Amino acid sequence: MGALSPDASEASPITTPGSSILERGRTHDCGSLRGADAGREVVLYGWVHRRRDLGGRIFIDLRDRAGLTQVVFGPDINEDAHQRADALRSEHCIGVVGTVISRADNQNPNMETGEIEVEVSALEVFSTSETPPFSVADDDRLDTSENIRLKYRYLDLRRPSLQRNFMLRSKLATLTRQHLAEEGFLELETPFMVKYTPGGARNFLVPSRLNPGTFYALAESPQIFKQLFMVAGLDKYFQITRCFRDEDLRNDRQPEFTQIDVELSFATPARVFAPIERLIQRLWSEALGVELTLPLPRMTWAEAMGRYGSDKPDLRFGLELHDVTEIGKTSGFRVFAQADYVKGLCVPPEHATSLTRSQLDKLTAFVKKREAGGAKGLAWARVQEDGSWKAPFAKMMTPESMQAITTRMGGAPGAVLLFVADDFETTHTALCALRLLLRDQLGLLDGAPPWRFLWVTDFPLFERNEKGVWVSSHHPFTSPKPEHVQYLESDPGKVLANAYDLVLNGNEIGGGSIRIHSSEIQAKVFKALGLSPEEIEAKFSFLLEAFRYGPPPHGGIALGLDRVAMLAAGASSLRDVIAFPKTQRGHDLMTRCPGPADEAQLAELFIRHRPLPGEDEG
Ligand code: AMO
Ligand code: AMP
Repeated sequence: MGALSPDASEASPITTPGSSILERGRTHDCGSLRGADAGREVVLYGWVHRRRDLGGRIFIDLRDRAGLTQVVFGPDINEDAHQRADALRSEHCIGVVGTVISRADNQNPNMETGEIEVEVSALEVFSTSETPPFSVADDDRLDTSENIRLKYRYLDLRRPSLQRNFMLRSKLATLTRQHLAEEGFLELETPFMVKYTPGGARNFLVPSRLNPGTFYALAESPQIFKQLFMVAGLDKYFQITRCFRDEDLRNDRQPEFTQIDVELSFATPARVFAPIERLIQRLWSEALGVELTLPLPRMTWAEAMGRYGSDKPDLRFGLELHDVTEIGKTSGFRVFAQADYVKGLCVPPEHATSLTRSQLDKLTAFVKKREAGGAKGLAWARVQEDGSWKAPFAKMMTPESMQAITTRMGGAPGAVLLFVADDFETTHTALCALRLLLRDQLGLLDGAPPWRFLWVTDFPLFERNEKGVWVSSHHPFTSPKPEHVQYLESDPGKVLANAYDLVLNGNEIGGGSIRIHSSEIQAKVFKALGLSPEEIEAKFSFLLEAFRYGPPPHGGIALGLDRVAMLAAGASSLRDVIAFPKTQRGHDLMTRCPGPADEAQLAELFIRHRPLPGEDEG
């Protein structure tokens, strides 16, 4: 993967007398020599990965991003090189000239270049290294804290596992450009410094020195500009672009991240899906050697929520939610009878044996946590041989209701049934979190298919925020389904959107929609979002104005390149696929940023430092 092309070919004279090893140019990278190369004279460059002294000879694993090659120094090979090799230590950067020797009966099957070694006739030390704070060679068993690794990120990035991730990421980006260009998309750029528009993620602000007291926002996405490209007639746009969002960070969220951003005119959802599916198919085929069958499956948001409690369901395993609300009403159990929703999971007998009483108590404590939905409790029942339940609340339930629920949930004897009874949001959030916890605890991914893609469609146009106010589920330019426009004012919660997400193994890797292209409908949506005519005028007048000049129907999508790369690389954090990431607290530990600005800079911007909480004024 990612071979380093040679600087010198064998035709060109690599052995010009007196020329330095650097001038000669490398003939091979450290991953490419094989048995068939025996006898060749080669020039290799790289870093000292490991070194061993054995029987008067010095063995070094020389590393570059293409791999490792064993190079050998000996008094019998070259006295001078051997002597100077004595001083080589981990991470010294060197160049060698040598002869490829076949390791006939001494091959190393663990190394791609294990059929050969290189006997060194000349050594050049380009630079030495201090003892690094952690061993690059310990890559897969490194236990150094992430903070140290991030502080020395340039060393961390030398680790072969991370180098593989970044070579994969590069390949994904290159293939994306190639593919979308071949499909007729134009690669166009949009500004990063933009007008602040409310409604999406929180923006980073950039003060304008030329216009004191005013600010740009860093673009959270090219959304409005790509729509204006469509108004401009620049149909079929794409861009691999950075987006900036001042959000709370998690393993799958960075404050700056990269989107594969796409927009097309005269779009329908199907016309957006098709090129994206072909792109995904190509990426998986050419970067991972995995053949995907198209079309990718689809599911409505309502079905995904109903069956998995999630708008990004992990389809690699079952354990679906069952709705027993109706049966619960007449069950006799107060908790079930009074709730808006009663839903449950059925853990089959082969997995249920490990669910002991204390395990079930832990699961109950889990669903009560705020981040797991904050349910009031978890009702559990063990299905007995005769179909009856062993459950703390069994005596409160009618036998018929227990029987009916068991049947509805397909509970065989030995199965454990787990219920949450609450409002829509809590019931689904808690059971979704529980389903994913059980996935990991019960090993439900053993033998599961590795890649499960899913389009989730028909999202609600609005959702209520913490304050109970209607906000856009996606963004305010998302088109309602035409047949739902009539409910925009009377019943906003009922309006479904022409919006879709692409999901992979339970992760949202992309999202988009068909846009509104009529200024009347756009105005209605702004109104439903509670924006006053003055606010609309101040924030979006340019967009509404543009829509007065023959806008085409249009739509698009953005894929999260970082998330795609993370999943493709089998990594569990974006920090493994973003070269210089921020920590959870938004710090870059290597450059120590963010940091304070000095008074002169602030004065130039007409910005005054306000006291922090607890700090004295003046
Ligand atoms: P959305 O906000 O859904 O849509 O973003 C699209 C995709 O970008 C990725 N993503 C992130 N990745 C890493 N860190 C983050 N903080 C982060 N936020 C989002 C996700 C997500 O699916 N303009 C619209 C797209 C459109 O409508 O065409 C947009 O930005 O994988
Ligand atoms: P209670 O009658 O409140 O003691 O609850 C009896 C059982 O039902 C306990 O095991 C609780 O954990 C469980 N339980 C209580 N409230 C809920 C709820 N909203 N959803 C599911 N189970 C619940």
